[in-house]
Amino acid sequence: MTFDVRQVPFASALAFQRLGGEAFGVAPTPPPAPQPDAWPRPGATPWGAWDGDELVAKATARRFTSWFHGTEVPTAGLAGVTVAAERRGEGALRPLLTTALDDARARGAVISTLYPSSAGIYRSLGYEVVGSYEDVRVPIAALAAVRKPEAVRTRRATLDDVDAIREVYREWGQAQNGPLTRAEEPFAMVADEMIGPGSDYTGVSVAVSTGTEGRVVGFASWTRGEGDDRTNTIEVDDLVALTPDAARALWRVLGSFAPVAGFVEVATSGGWSGADVARLVLPDHVASAESRPYMLRILDVPGALSAARLAPVTARVPFAVVDPRTPDLEGAWTLEVSDGAARVVPSPARQPAEDRLTFTSAGLAQSYAGAQSCGNLRLAGQLAGPRNDDTLWDALWGGRQVHVRDYF
Ligand SMILES: CC(C)(COP(=O)(O)OP(=O)(O)OC[C@H]1O[C@@H](n2cnc3c(N)ncnc32)[C@H](O)[C@@H]1OP(=O)(O)O)[C@@H](O)C(=O)NCCC(=O)NCCS
Repeated sequence: MTFDVRQVPFASALAFQRLGGEAFGVAPTPPPAPQPDAWPRPGATPWGAWDGDELVAKATARRFTSWFHGTEVPTAGLAGVTVAAERRGEGALRPLLTTALDDARARGAVISTLYPSSAGIYRSLGYEVVGSYEDVRVPIAALAAVRKPEAVRTRRATLDDVDAIREVYREWGQAQNGPLTRAEEPFAMVADEMIGPGSDYTGVSVAVSTGTEGRVVGFASWTRGEGDDRTNTIEVDDLVALTPDAARALWRVLGSFAPVAGFVEVATSGGWSGADVARLVLPDHVASAESRPYMLRILDVPGALSAARLAPVTARVPFAVVDPRTPDLEGAWTLEVSDGAARVVPSPARQPAEDRLTFTSAGLAQSYAGAQSCGNLRLAGQLAGPRNDDTLWDALWGGRQVHVRDYF
């Protein structure tokens, strides 16, 4: 079966919306129908696969940037991937997503990310799990033992704090692999949406150093929720702190609701191993988490790897990608690092496994993200070839933990 894959025009916007609504179970009262002046949404490209007049499959490619290895990396975020119930298993998914990814690459994206409903759907397309977004639920009583911070006070943020809050997020994000920069819709940190009458939050609290500078060193955006019988939950969209005392101060603001609330649920990332550093100041690890895996695929091997700021060393590592399921990624190169700047030089060698580190596309995605070591990739069948460069490769790519804070 051959499908006709193209961008979805406004004339098919309702069919596109219905297909997604059916798959993901929208409320009985559907969202407002798409409007011509708001189609497509800013930064989003809606894609469809048709069989004649029938829209068989759909997906949206979103233009984001995310932090990887200290730089802002153009990222295609895939969302709303759906095949019509009666047409599943007919092979509509691969041409749909391949076309969407080719277009994203032509627009400058060098990686693609998504939140899968099942990881297996995307593996043969070259994606692999590199991290997780998590809703972590902490019994509020556990926050009572958080130590009092020194030299940090808290107050409610005003519009004047928005630039400083954005700067806190930027400083935190730049140190991680994965977070969206929040330069783009729908995650841009828009002042009126964060603070003021139009905001969905009850409040944004800031932690401010008490030195002469009075610098904002952390923030928490929270929604109080209903009820005061200690069964209810305070939802926290962000708790980002640049110092341990800022983290303690913000946790204590939330913990101060203990007489009238039962839980604090924080949108965070990293699990217990590469945990959010703000969680490391909690004296008690009692918490439950709902975890959503985050998958990454490289779109442009030289583009992604050469953008990285690596350790200030000089190194030369031949490598290759061999993966017949993702022919667009296959090739052989040499990674040349000079004082932290990376260059990826095509190599004429075409028998890669014999003389160089040879990744599958999933293996390269995990290594690039710093999510798995060469040793573990070998155990998973994602890396072959001689082992003499394993530790050097790990040292180059392994320095940052994966974190994501925006679900799409
Ligand atoms: C998921 C969905 C898009 C797959 O469409 P499909 O036409 O059934 O996909 P295909 O038969 O072409 O299968 C594509 C790959 O996904 C895998 N796959 C399909 N459904 C899967 C599932 N539920 N769990 C794990 N893997 C799955 C197939 O095994 C196949 O893998 P392969 O390429 O390694 O052989 C479709 O079932 C759907 O719309 N489901 C409901 C909405 C949904 O879950 N969307 C994904 C949101 S992230």
